[in-house]
Amino acid sequence: IIMILFGPPGAGKGSHGPKIVKTLGIPQLSTGDMLRAAVAAGTELGKQADDMMSSGGLVSDELVVNLIKERIKEADCAKGFILDGFPRTMEQTKMLDAMLASSGEKVDYVVALEVPDAVLTERICGRWVHKESGRSYHIKFAPPKSLGEQAPSVTTMLDDETGQPLMQRKDDTEEALKSRLEAYHSQTVPILAHYGPAGIVKKVDANRPHLEVWSSIEIVLNLAG
Ligand code: AP5
Ligand code: ZN
Repeated sequence: IIMILFGPPGAGKGSHGPKIVKTLGIPQLSTGDMLRAAVAAGTELGKQADDMMSSGGLVSDELVVNLIKERIKEADCAKGFILDGFPRTMEQTKMLDAMLASSGEKVDYVVALEVPDAVLTERICGRWVHKESGRSYHIKFAPPKSLGEQAPSVTTMLDDETGQPLMQRKDDTEEALKSRLEAYHSQTVPILAHYGPAGIVKKVDANRPHLEVWSSIEIVLNLAG
């Protein structure tokens, strides 16, 4: 199964992705996570992407398409994969379709998480992440066990599974979020109209508590499974 997990910044792609991975047994490929890993490792690619990511703009189509192209060649992608944060422009969409068509494949589902912009600021500004695994927490909506009754800080925000400190993303500011939302509405939303006629776009109201959103996603996964 080839699935695109679609939605604006803060929609819940990173939150629900790992549960879809467990359910379907295929990996989640997040271009955002891959780019952040490249920035952290200080690679040439990371240096090219760093400033653009911090300001909330999109990095070049060529760069992300190459990342995905290499990644889907790996053995764990043989049975399919979940794309998170890719494709994000019509150009990336065309390149993805062509890439898949060359091996007789196509996108099977687009799970579109829908959340109004007004809700996203609080989600993004309260997010803390575990860098290595990409696990997302929220000071209010999904606090780590370590937080307890204390005020959030780098010493109280610890990953539930590893106990390692959580951190905040450089682009999780109101300022950068504005640019990210602009890019989403102008460049990314048109992708839905491209896949719409194939009947593969499954919209999910993601402006509800985690568990309710997950129940709706599970219904789509039952179709896919
Ligand atoms: P990327 O990492 O893809 O960021 P994004 O699309 O902005 O998405 P987020 O990771 O912010 O949102 P999410 O949906 O994963 O939210 P989460 O589940 O964590 O990209 C970053 C940058 O990299 C881009 O700006 C660009 O520069 C570059 N880039 C990446 N891919 C690219 C591409 N293909 N082309 C060009 N450039 C690219 O949830 C957020 C918070 O909300 C969490 O705290 C969570 O706990 C909370 N939350 C989630 N769901 C709920 C709920 N139902 N109720 C309450 N709280 C909730
Ligand atoms: Zn994410």
